[in-house]
Amino acid sequence: MTQSELRFITRPGGEVQGRLRVPGDKSISHRSIMLGALAEGTTQVSAFLDGEDCLATLNAFRAMGVPIEITTSGSLSIQGVGLHGLQAPQMPLYLGNSGTSMRLMTGLLAGQAFDVALTGDASLSRRPMRRVTEPLTRMGAQIDTAPEGRPPLTIHGGHALHGLTYAMPIASAQVKSSLLLAGLYAEGETCVIEPAPTRDHTERMLKGFGYPVDRQGEQVCLRGGGRLTGTRIDVPADISSAAFFLVAASITPHAELWLEHVGVNPTRTGVIEILKLMGAQITLHNQREIGGEPVADLQVQSAPLHGIDIPEALVPLAIDEFPVLFVAASFAEGVTRLTGAAELRVKESDRIQVMADGLQACGGEAEATPDGIVIRGKALRGGVVESHGDHRIAMAFSIAGIRALEPIEIHDCENVNTSFPGFVEACNRVGMKLEQMQ
Ligand code: S3P
Repeated sequence: MTQSELRFITRPGGEVQGRLRVPGDKSISHRSIMLGALAEGTTQVSAFLDGEDCLATLNAFRAMGVPIEITTSGSLSIQGVGLHGLQAPQMPLYLGNSGTSMRLMTGLLAGQAFDVALTGDASLSRRPMRRVTEPLTRMGAQIDTAPEGRPPLTIHGGHALHGLTYAMPIASAQVKSSLLLAGLYAEGETCVIEPAPTRDHTERMLKGFGYPVDRQGEQVCLRGGGRLTGTRIDVPADISSAAFFLVAASITPHAELWLEHVGVNPTRTGVIEILKLMGAQITLHNQREIGGEPVADLQVQSAPLHGIDIPEALVPLAIDEFPVLFVAASFAEGVTRLTGAAELRVKESDRIQVMADGLQACGGEAEATPDGIVIRGKALRGGVVESHGDHRIAMAFSIAGIRALEPIEIHDCENVNTSFPGFVEACNRVGMKLEQMQ
């Protein structure tokens, strides 16, 4: 892997005060492009996340002949081509660091008439894809992978798909979404059974595009052969990006921060529940529903945190927020234990090992276990940490630096742009002391 030169240095003693609207939700932004492209008519998207991951999805659909105009910063107009209107791209589609793009698009492309290859960066090329290629193959798809089911993938077109009822062995919204998108092209009914609830943005958005989706308990089903009608999507602020500031304000003395227009879909709010169990002071105000997604303004004030055993049921509902939750645990009184979270080892980096190493490098007490971590709260000294090109690791240690005794220097921070363009500016705007150096 080539390491980026970008480093962050975060210094102790900053403040966390004021109001902030963090960028748009990554999961919803990806899906807005995919469904907007497959719809009939125009889809207008406001507050689209213009981070590199979602731009990879946008460019991929442009390469398949979908006209997408960026009207003003953050607003898109997508001229949908209908379920059967995509064209073969001239080249393999490069999806950068984005697992969501690759897994969801593999399902969507399995039902096309043309062949397409999907590639990614070094991190994405290490990530497991069999979790989608195996059930898609059972639906009739033909997909070639590199050894061990890794990218690059070649999806062969022209194969008729048939519906499948699939009980997922892991709680994964990406797998569920991939199969539902393939199901749009399948003969008959496609049903996915979840072992635990996972984010349901695909189901909500399909309904917003007028496509019937049926949920009965843990099973979600749709029938192929329908149509999507262009719509309007207002992307809420990403709770996964807000999470860094929920922890920042919680661990900083005398802090008070308002985070505006944050998506609080109950399949995403595990981070709030976990922080509250640790003693955090977080209040939801002005709860409303915008375009089928719950939204609220979050008020967070500093509070003494204590260690907990994190309930396993909350793991899928906070799956992207654990790096910064581990930082919260490092400043909490007592021990925090996480179990049932082996999935963290196959994210953009091995987030259990990389966080344990980084916390130890800063003088913390963290022990990695096969499916989680044990953290004993204690003042971090500061030091130098490697993010391994993982955006959420880089941002989590940026937050840790507020309360460490000495600065924390974080290496390889370029990929923060995949999910949170403007992160450094946002931190400084609320009073933190974060510098970037090339
Ligand atoms: C996502 C689902 C989650 C999450 C990822 C985005 C999505 O992955 O970690 O950042 O948009 O569906 P898994 O479904 O693999 O848990």
